[in-house]
Amino acid sequence: MLPFHKAVESDFSAVNDLIIANLHSNVGLVENIGHYIVGSGGKRLRPVVVLLSALANGYKGKQHLTMAAVIEFIHTATLLHDDVVDVSALRRGRETANNQWGNAPSVLVGDFIYSRAFQMLVEVGDMPIMGVIADATNVISEGEVQQMGNAGNSAIDEATYYEVIYRKTAKLFEAAGRIGAMLAAKENHNADRDVHGSDAMAAYGKHLGLAFQIADDVLDYQGDSEETGKNVGDDLAEGKMTLPLIHARDHLGEEQKQLICAAIESKSAEHFEKILEAVRQSSSLDYSVIQAQEQAELAKQSLARLPESKLKTVLFDLADFAVARIS
Ligand code: IPE
Ligand code: IPE
Ligand code: MG
Ligand code: MG
Ligand code: MG
Repeated sequence: MLPFHKAVESDFSAVNDLIIANLHSNVGLVENIGHYIVGSGGKRLRPVVVLLSALANGYKGKQHLTMAAVIEFIHTATLLHDDVVDVSALRRGRETANNQWGNAPSVLVGDFIYSRAFQMLVEVGDMPIMGVIADATNVISEGEVQQMGNAGNSAIDEATYYEVIYRKTAKLFEAAGRIGAMLAAKENHNADRDVHGSDAMAAYGKHLGLAFQIADDVLDYQGDSEETGKNVGDDLAEGKMTLPLIHARDHLGEEQKQLICAAIESKSAEHFEKILEAVRQSSSLDYSVIQAQEQAELAKQSLARLPESKLKTVLFDLADFAVARIS
């Protein structure tokens, strides 16, 4: 258990129970794949953001537990789909579900988990929160499709990179932050739920998510697959122009630049080691780490008006954690 889980230990344990209980299905294969991916762990960062955001804003009720599970279900569904799209073989230290059962079962069980999240959301019955989740899932899909359209394009710039990672990753963290504060605002009979903390918590989530995805993209080059539970080189093999590569392309000589562009255009990780060397030579991983640190800093600054509390320091720790993995 990570320190920020410890800070909300009993709620976190209740969320994990809800996650397990809601995987129930009368169709065996649905349960098998559901338990397989959920049982392999995962850092559970997004549900922790929901819990911390609600509690740091003074929430006393119980709906944050369901909402935390909803957010983790949406994340889990996107992972099942993402590994099919990325043709990935390793997830959470285990063979991916697509490798184990095939693409079709992974996509369909991903749909089951997505729609289970919406059933749970209906139980909460809060229309503005439903709106936040509906928008987030819609934008995540756009991000994944946009990224797919960009695959094999070596001319992608930083602005487009940020657009994609905001949509595919930061949007869900943003929703997690916003929803915790919205629950607290409702409990306090605060009519204007969009203001009063929820914009700030949404900004926190957004910057945390950006930091987190930049770190993930660095780890795709220099990660230890024992630690990340994923293989390195997946992004290159997918022809994905992530931040380290964008920076390297723009700061290397013609020959190395051509090496990178050719690998992206042919979607091949064949020259991964050589490209990693070039990326190191241009300090592009260091550059990416600094960009991730800046986003973590922005996440913290978003909390300027949140009253001081133990949980606020935990939110700070979580922002640090997002980049500690790479620095
Ligand atoms: C993986 O997210 C997908 C990204 C957005 C990079 P996590 O790294 O949070 O995955 P788990 O849940 O901990 O396995
Ligand atoms: C993850 O992006 C984004 C979503 C799952 C929506 P990645 O493709 O980089 O995630 P990993 O590295 O496979 O976890
Ligand atoms: Mg992937
Ligand atoms: Mg992907
Ligand atoms: Mg990745």
